Order: sequence, then C-alpha cells, then structure tokens
Amino acid sequence: MNVADVLFSAEEIAARVMGLAAEIKSTDEDLTREQPLLVVCILRGAFIFTADLMRALHAAGVNAEVDFLGLSSYGTARESQGRVHLTMDLQTDVTARDVLIVDDILDSGRTLRFVLGLLQSRGAARVRSCVLLDKPSRREIEGNADFTGFRAPDAFVVGYGMDVAGLGRGMPYIGTAPDEPEQV
Ligand code: IMP
Ligand code: MG
Repeated sequence: MNVADVLFSAEEIAARVMGLAAEIKSTDEDLTREQPLLVVCILRGAFIFTADLMRALHAAGVNAEVDFLGLSSYGTARESQGRVHLTMDLQTDVTARDVLIVDDILDSGRTLRFVLGLLQSRGAARVRSCVLLDKPSRREIEGNADFTGFRAPDAFVVGYGMDVAGLGRGMPYIGTAPDEPEQV
C-alpha cells in the first residue's frame, strides 16, 4: 500500500489518543460508580484506535469495559451507500449503562446516528461518542462527536485501522489513499 500523503504520524496519533483519554477522564464526574464505562468499538475501522484508547483510559485511571458492534455502510466502494447494516451485535446488555461509542471517522454522520439510536432504544443511561477523525465538510446529518481526535480534509484516508477495499488497516500512520485503485 502506497499512500499519497501522510496526514497523521504514529507519534501524533499516540499523543492525541492520550489527550483524548485525559479529556474523557476530566468530564467523568462519577468515577467511583459501581458500573465502569462501556466502550463500544465500531468494527472494523475502529479496532486499532479502540485498543490504544483502552490502554490510554487505563493509564488515565478510567475503568472501562469493551464490546464490539459490527457495522457496514461502505461495502467496497469509497462513497457511502446511504444505509448502515448491522453485521455483528454487542454481547453486553446496555440497559442503564454509561456508554462511549468509539469510531474511526465521522463522515456523513449516518453511522453515529444509527448507533446512538440503537443504544438509546436499548435503554443506555448515557451515550457519548469519540471519533479519531472528523470530516465536517461531508456531514449530511447534523451533530458532532463528544470527543474528536483530529479534523481531516475531505479525502479518503487509510491506515491505523482504516481501509481502502479491505487493505491498509495495519499501517501505523494515517495517510490519504491513492486515487487509482490499482495502486492499492
Ligand atoms: P458515516 O456513516 O458516513 O459517518 O461514515 C462513517 C464510516 O465510514 C466510518 O466509520 C468509516 O468506516 C467509513 N469511512 C468514512 N470515510 C472513510 C475514509 O476516508 N477511509 C476509510 N473509511 C472511511
Ligand atoms: Mg466504520
């Protein structure tokens, strides 16, 4: 995988993830409550970000459980197909839980709206969201994440868990994907 441009280096990402954990910790009024925070990782793009954020939350002194929700809206194309599919459900009962949705990119906003609706309909006590990247210029559904890592330009990005046509997730940095599919 060749990337056209490195947008965020591994070092920049690591520093920002620690910063996000500190922000989450600082907004948490009730760390002594019995129930830990439930981190909901949106598969597959957020798996690496979530792994690092879990360790950063631990270092910041936040007790957190993790569960996984498989969603798909892109298929193999780069443009959203407009519908969000549930591909794998949580195992945790979210009733009365304090939930943090963790996703890789906030783009049109459809994924976040879908997950917020799902968790609220299942009776979560509080649902907040944390995204590594935000592409505000592409928003179709209003709203921002509660915690945002970086603003990203309107370009297709790859690496640090994010893919183009299934590839590139293992790259330790985030770059813009090459325009030509045959370069992937
Ligand atoms: P939304 O539902 O349009 O907000 O899209 C969010 C999802 O689209 C993210 O969770 C990603 O999985 C995917 N996505 C959006 N932009 C990119 C990108 O530039 N690279 C890789 N995946 C992306
Ligand atoms: Mg995703």
